[in-house]
Amino acid sequence: MAVVSEKGAARVNPSVPVPSLPPSERPPPDPAPAPPAGRIHVAAEGFSVFYADVEAVRSVTLAIPQGRVTAIIGPSGCGKSTLLRAINRMNDLIPGCRVSGRLTLDGEDVYGPQIDVTALRQRVGMVFQKPNPFPKSVFDNVAFGPRIHGIRGRSQLEAVVERSLRRAALWGEVQDRLHENALGLSGGQQQRLCIARALAVQPELLLMDEPTSALDPIAASRIEDLIDELRGEYTVIIVTHNMQQAARVSDLTAFMYMGELVEFDATSRLFTSPAQARTQDYITGRFG
Ligand SMILES: Nc1ncnc2c1ncn2[C@@H]1O[C@H](COP(=O)(O)OP(=O)(O)O)[C@@H](O)[C@H]1O
Ligand SMILES: [Mg+2]
Repeated sequence: MAVVSEKGAARVNPSVPVPSLPPSERPPPDPAPAPPAGRIHVAAEGFSVFYADVEAVRSVTLAIPQGRVTAIIGPSGCGKSTLLRAINRMNDLIPGCRVSGRLTLDGEDVYGPQIDVTALRQRVGMVFQKPNPFPKSVFDNVAFGPRIHGIRGRSQLEAVVERSLRRAALWGEVQDRLHENALGLSGGQQQRLCIARALAVQPELLLMDEPTSALDPIAASRIEDLIDELRGEYTVIIVTHNMQQAARVSDLTAFMYMGELVEFDATSRLFTSPAQARTQDYITGRFG
């Protein structure tokens, strides 16, 4: 199944063989997966997450590069959300949930004794499947985090709100409605507002758990465009059960199955020449 967009393939791997070349002039097939280029932002080593006795994430090892978009795909219940939530310790809120192995952010142990969980969640923002703005004004939604972090001055707050809304590609649509209730916005606008709210505290990393699955196709495509614009400046990890979406927006893709990481590679390669039979079966729709 050719699900990798031209754009995605070109961006990730400009040396993808061009079909029109005669075989003798085609570049040789890529060697074994190269480690991702650039600084590693999030690394898991033998990392597991348990709900009571159930091991929902099983000894996952992977290294997610800074400034890139990484997609996590796999059938429902395979542990995608659990792995994502582990990165900013949202799992802490679930009784009976525990982890083993190692998970690091910029080399620092996320579950180490010295970690400040509030500061961690400021560094690692999260956007959920269903837009969840507070029942407050557009302005107050975006200003919420900065106020908690001690920004009080009106003009400073206004600057943060405008910058965040622009970054989330929403400013033009809401600049005249800043003091209206955010719940009056459309679903797609609410989701971009939630992204603006996450960006307002200047995170390094954004976790997105199926951020478009509650949206219509046009609103979803605006979110995909926005993810593309955030690339480079932020590390984005997006869980999606939509393989076309993973192929369109991500540089790297992780395929999970029953709690295990089956394969992690450049998106262009994972969707065109996966190394594992289970990946091949999943991307060709044989299960899932
Ligand atoms: N809060 C929870 N308590 C107990 N089990 C859970 C909880 N959340 C998820 N699980 C279980 O962990 C496994 C992985 O779930 P999840 O991470 O939500 O998968 P996915 O996001 O891939 O659909 C599933 O078997 C699910 O039933
Ligand atoms: Mg999930």
